Amino acid sequence: MATLPDAAAARAGGRAGRLRQHAGGRRGARGCRLGLGLGLAVTSNRDRPLVAEYDGSAVGLAWATFDAADPLLVNLFQMWVAPESRGHGAAAALLKAAVDWARASGARAMQLGVLSENDTARRLYERAGFRDHGAPFPVRPGDARMEQAMRLDLAPAS
Ligand SMILES: CC(C)(COP(=O)(O)OP(=O)(O)OC[C@H]1O[C@@H](n2cnc3c(N)ncnc32)[C@H](O)[C@@H]1OP(=O)(O)O)[C@@H](O)C(=O)NCCC(=O)NCCS
Repeated sequence: MATLPDAAAARAGGRAGRLRQHAGGRRGARGCRLGLGLGLAVTSNRDRPLVAEYDGSAVGLAWATFDAADPLLVNLFQMWVAPESRGHGAAAALLKAAVDWARASGARAMQLGVLSENDTARRLYERAGFRDHGAPFPVRPGDARMEQAMRLDLAPAS
């Protein structure tokens, strides 16, 4: 079982933080026991559904998946942490696990969409190296809110 970074776990007030990588109940490459997937979670070489846990309770999730059209691009969806568990590094740990998986899986870039007004999420992604990609665009027709694509370059250093 992967463990939340020491600093994040310590800041979580001594709670035993764990990051479970849901991958169908198999053992991971380093012998870690990986948790059973959520009932409807899709697990394949193209997908990485992730759940953050504190003391055995699921408190957050994220889903990384290869882009249908671009085999070198991984998209990140559904980053969410339960309100009572926010501010302890759970999202940062989920994001790091997703980025590590994308890089190890051969992706050259990772991309997500975030509401322009969502400063907390934008800071989270910027700390991990994501940068704005293109101009903001309306979330949907008739909705005044704007969405910003952010992208992380995963190309190996030359
Ligand atoms: C955005 C979201 C995922 C962040 O989750 P989180 O687990 O609170 O994120 P983190 O704990 O890694 O970081 C959040 C903040 O807590 C701070 N933090 C982390 N650990 C901390 C600690 N132990 N003590 C004090 N602050 C801490 C981070 O520095 C960050 O500060 P900032 O907002 O000033 O930049 C969460 O707020 C959420 O689920 N929001 C609703 C859904 C959403 O907006 N999802 C994003 C869609 S793109």
